[in-house]
Amino acid sequence: PMELELKNVKLRAGDQFKVEGRILHEAQGFQIDLGFDEENLALHFNPRFHDAADGAVLVCNSKIDGCWGHEEREKHSSLQRGSTVKILLKLTGDMFEVEMPNGHEIQFPNRHSLDVITYVRIRGDLKLTSFKIY
Ligand code: GAL
Repeated sequence: PMELELKNVKLRAGDQFKVEGRILHEAQGFQIDLGFDEENLALHFNPRFHDAADGAVLVCNSKIDGCWGHEEREKHSSLQRGSTVKILLKLTGDMFEVEMPNGHEIQFPNRHSLDVITYVRIRGDLKLTSFKIY
């Protein structure tokens, strides 16, 4: 599985970025993490294709000092194995907005009011073709 890790970035409210790639045919899942460091994530965006409890489900969570917070789960259909995807992430300050391929958008609250995102990680069963910060 691929992993892209960016440190010392500075993303603030109003910034957005785009992740493009192809989800592998046998994908179990992938994740896009935004935060301060590996142990402190404001957004863990984690589409899964074969979750033990829910099958194809989008899991979102936050992590503080290494401890996961309350998990949000939502069935997803806009992210399909084997398909090319374009995912747009927007930082509004109090929310993270994630726009997926069919225009479906999810929101996740900035639970710990992190106002600068300095750490970005993308990893999993995705062939990344483009990553752009606006
Ligand atoms: C765990 C999983 C982590 C993360 C977390 C989100 O079960 O091991 O990688 O996805 O759920 O709540």
